[in-house]
This record gives sequence, structure tokens and C-alpha cells, in this order.
Amino acid sequence: MRTRVGIVGAGPAGLFLAHLLHRAGIESVIVESRSRADVEGTVRAGVLEDWVVHLMNDLGLGGRMMREGHFHDGISLQWNGERHHIDIRTLTEGKRVCVYPQHEVLKDLIAGRLNNGGEIVFGVTGTAIHGVETDTPSITFRHHGASESLSCDYVVGADGFHGPGRQAIPRTCRVEYEKIYPFGWLGILARAPLSWHELIYANQSGGFALLSTRSTEVQRMYLQCDPADDIARWSDARIWDTLHARLDTGDGWVLHEGEIFQKGIIPLRSFVCEPMRHGRLFIAGDAAHIVPPTGAKGLNLAVADMLVLARALEAKFRRNDDAGLDGYSRTCLRRIWKAERFSWYMTTMLHRNDAETGFERAIHFADLDLVRTSDSAARLLAENYVGLPFDT
Ligand code: PHB
Repeated sequence: MRTRVGIVGAGPAGLFLAHLLHRAGIESVIVESRSRADVEGTVRAGVLEDWVVHLMNDLGLGGRMMREGHFHDGISLQWNGERHHIDIRTLTEGKRVCVYPQHEVLKDLIAGRLNNGGEIVFGVTGTAIHGVETDTPSITFRHHGASESLSCDYVVGADGFHGPGRQAIPRTCRVEYEKIYPFGWLGILARAPLSWHELIYANQSGGFALLSTRSTEVQRMYLQCDPADDIARWSDARIWDTLHARLDTGDGWVLHEGEIFQKGIIPLRSFVCEPMRHGRLFIAGDAAHIVPPTGAKGLNLAVADMLVLARALEAKFRRNDDAGLDGYSRTCLRRIWKAERFSWYMTTMLHRNDAETGFERAIHFADLDLVRTSDSAARLLAENYVGLPFDT
């Protein structure tokens, strides 16, 4: 097999790249280790930055998102039993928060890609990347019991934190930055009516909780827990008690309960790999960087990488112009570090960390109060939340 751009991974990064390249008339092939059902069924976070909503529409993929997505004018932060609204729409000249889960985005991208003649090879095993320091890189894998080789001009590792993409950059040629937080998120899906028309991020009664939504009948909620905790120790009653303690306001607002039909614990980490290019290999999305979900940036950052790479590849193929490819890593990392900063700020401000001193804890509450009392602080938070402008 041969193609121009070989992409490892059918997550948001790989699929957006395939669409952007197709729009520019550049062919690509995606190889993915999971099945299509697995990719489309994995529950992940769900906030799209404003420009991602526009990009979905520009690519002709936004129909279902516009119908089924939840568009909010703001978010609330809550501490000490008081809820403070951040009017994101006003603070950012009209930008809104779109809650549309990642696996729904993936369903739209996969269907769209197959419709426009794209190739996605699902369920491959033993994926390996070769020759990225030469002019003839390739990806090898097994599919339906046969060994396959995909030769290409460029390889993109959009294969997540544990994939072979990042590992194909020699250890001596990359630097990794990591921060592991001493807490995780217990996430649930519950069949319950909406309790609030927007997202609520709370830090009270000894920890964090987030109220989000999936539809008028299904709600998504998270609460801070020990990352090593056993989910079996969290009965439904304990989950609801903790959510009440962290979200209740004491002014008559009601958190609606319902049947919990999905629950799990995820650890929180921040991670960045520099650089994101080695020879003819480019890495993107979770392969190159991880953010804790408190800033709702994961998917959005992956798409931002791909916007930069698609433009760079187009310049290379059209005009033999290497400047974009040479600047890929630097351009992406400028945005990534700002998203890392924002995600770290939201995470440290909104969680209870027993390893911190009373001084540090008081500073986090001062940060929260600053957002309540300063328009500039609120605007900075709002601009980061809906997505910083592109600086390419
Ligand atoms: C979600 O709805 O899954 C969600 C929303 C906001 C976040 C993280 C996750 O910051």
C-alpha cells in the first residue's frame, strides 16, 4: 500500500487531519488498533472550543452537533456554598461553550471520512513505524492475519499516550515534562433530568465536583477521588452523598438523582513531549501532550495540532515549502503550553490537595475570588475556556 500521509490512530487528531488533508486534495490512510465500535463507544469528555464548532461546520460535519449539542453562554464556579456565574459569551464577544461528547464527534468524523472515500483500517495489531529519518518512511501492521506495509511521504503518530508514535522519536532526541496529580476523577453517567442549564465546577466539602450533561435525560458528573481507589468502594448512595455535599448550595437548588449506568475512575496528569517532530514523523494529540480534564482542552488541543500540520503539509505538497513543517513543533507547543497552564490552574484551584500547605490552599481560594471580583480575571478564564485565538 502507498499513500502520501500515513496516520496512526483514528482519534480526534487523526480523523480531523484526514478530513483537512482531503479538503486540500492530499490523500491519507488511517490505521487504528481498536475496532470501529470501540472507538465510537469509549466515553470521554465533551466540550468543544468555539473554533472547533466552526471547523466541524466548515468541513460539512456539524449537522448533528448543531442539533444535539448543548450550547451554553457560560459556566459556574462554586465554593463555600456559593455559585458564581461566568458569562463567557459576553466576556468573549459572542463565543459559546458547546457540550458535545468526543465519541459523538468521532462518529461524525468516521462516517464523513468513509463517505468521502477515505480509508480507515480498524482492528490492526503490531503497528510499527519505520524509516522516519529517511525519505521513505512506512508503517507496518497486521490486519486479518496478513502482514501489511504502508509506504508514505510522512507519518503522523496520532495514536494516544501509549501508542508507538512518540516512542519512534529516539529517547535522546526528546524531553518529556510530566506532572501527576494526587487525585483522580470518578465519572458517572446517570439517567436523570437536567439539574442546571450550564456546567458547574465546584470545590467544597473537601473536594472537586463537576456537573455536566449529555442530553435532557442523561447527565454526566464527576467527583474528585483517590486515583488508586477501587470503584467497587463507591456505592451509588456514596456517590450521590458526595455529589450533594460538593454541589448543594442550600438555597433550594436541587441536584436530581437517577440510575447510575456507567462509572469509572481516571487519573489526572499533565504531560508534554518536546519536540513533536523527528524527521518525517509528526506526533499529535495525546501522543504528545496530556492535560487534566478540568480545563476541557484535550480534544481541542489535538485538533489545533492538526490544523497547523494540515496547513504545513499543504504548503509542502503544493509549493515545496518546508517552513510550516519545520515550525510545526514550535507553533503547536506555544498553544499547548498555554493550555497546560490553564488546565493546571483550573485543576489546582478547584481540587483539594492534602499535600499542599494551608497557605497554598488559601491562594487557590483567592484565585477563585479573583474571578468573582475582577472582570479581567474572569475574561482571562473565559478566553482560555472557549479557546485562545490562533497564533500561527
Ligand atoms: C464532560 O462533560 O465530560 C466534561 C465537561 C467539562 C470538563 C470535563 C468533562 O471540563
